[in-house]
Amino acid sequence: MLQLLSLIFLSMLEDDYLVPELEKATVRIRQPERVRGIIRTLREQGVAKLQVVSDFDMTLSRFGCNGRRCPTSHNIFHSSHVVSEDGKKKSVKGDVDSVPFPSAMLQLKDLLHYYYPIEIDPNRTLEEKRPLMVEWWTRAHELLVQQKIRKGDIAQLVRESEAMLRDGFKEFFDQLHKNNVPLFIFSAGIGDVLEEIIRQADVFHSNVKVVSNYMDFNDDGVLMHFKEPLIHTYNKNNTVLQGTQYFQQLSSRTSIILLGDSMGDLTMADGIPKVENILKIGFLNDKGLPPPPHPVLTGLLQVDERRGKYLEAYDIVLESDETLDVVNGILRYILTET
Ligand code: TMP
Ligand code: MG
Repeated sequence: MLQLLSLIFLSMLEDDYLVPELEKATVRIRQPERVRGIIRTLREQGVAKLQVVSDFDMTLSRFGCNGRRCPTSHNIFHSSHVVSEDGKKKSVKGDVDSVPFPSAMLQLKDLLHYYYPIEIDPNRTLEEKRPLMVEWWTRAHELLVQQKIRKGDIAQLVRESEAMLRDGFKEFFDQLHKNNVPLFIFSAGIGDVLEEIIRQADVFHSNVKVVSNYMDFNDDGVLMHFKEPLIHTYNKNNTVLQGTQYFQQLSSRTSIILLGDSMGDLTMADGIPKVENILKIGFLNDKGLPPPPHPVLTGLLQVDERRGKYLEAYDIVLESDETLDVVNGILRYILTET
């Protein structure tokens, strides 16, 4: 009897300290009991059943650094000498009349400032957003192709950029590698760039697989196109994975941890044939941009409204958290031998 009581007491204690990182002030959870249940089951199911599916930009990479926005894999080109000053000033050809933006001289950064608020606007439907995302990616890729970017310049460009992985990235990548847990990075960013960021951080291990937008270079190493299919925020699902057998090969891995920062990231694991347990962790990145010069940027002021939607969609929401502490804490708990 005494033994039974102490077992119950110990398991209560263990529950309290399940993952201490969940006590961080950045953590928001709508259904704490449910989340604790999923985490416990992920541990019971064991490491052999686990796989991680993650977004890259602003999920594995940081949103802010030194009081500014950190560049995404597209935006490392903004500050680079590789995109010439002339190129930075060049206008992006397109249906500018339909764009209620003060200048017709849209540049990569201007595109971001115009389209990113649309991407995160909780008051627009996915049907409204999808064509606008295609428009954004198409324009951005056209602009990059015009700059005649060279394959050989990418490593230096990444080295000189402020792109950064979130604090705790080394433990995250190394833990997964050490335990042979597959990590699938599904990104609407630029594959060549994000691979280089991970390589330079020394964590591009053999368990990492990336699906993203890849550049197509000619024999002289000059960027000519982007390879198909175009991946944008709201088609990160099975439609762009057809032809890859990735998830089919991992069909025995029915425990999933999904990491994202956008509502579009929620469908990244849809192609997994059999999901038994899934824990969705979402970064609700702060607005972090300067005050809006135009009403269209009011999307950025809707963090409160976004919070409600994120809490419904993600099991754990991390707000203004530039670290992977919570993810690492959960992994540590799951990967510890029972
Ligand atoms: P992700 O899927 O790895 O998060 O990459 C998509 C992000 O890239 C998305 O949040 C918007 C961002 N992005 C830019 O920052 N600049 C661009 O020019 C484009 C097309 C996308
Ligand atoms: Mg992202």
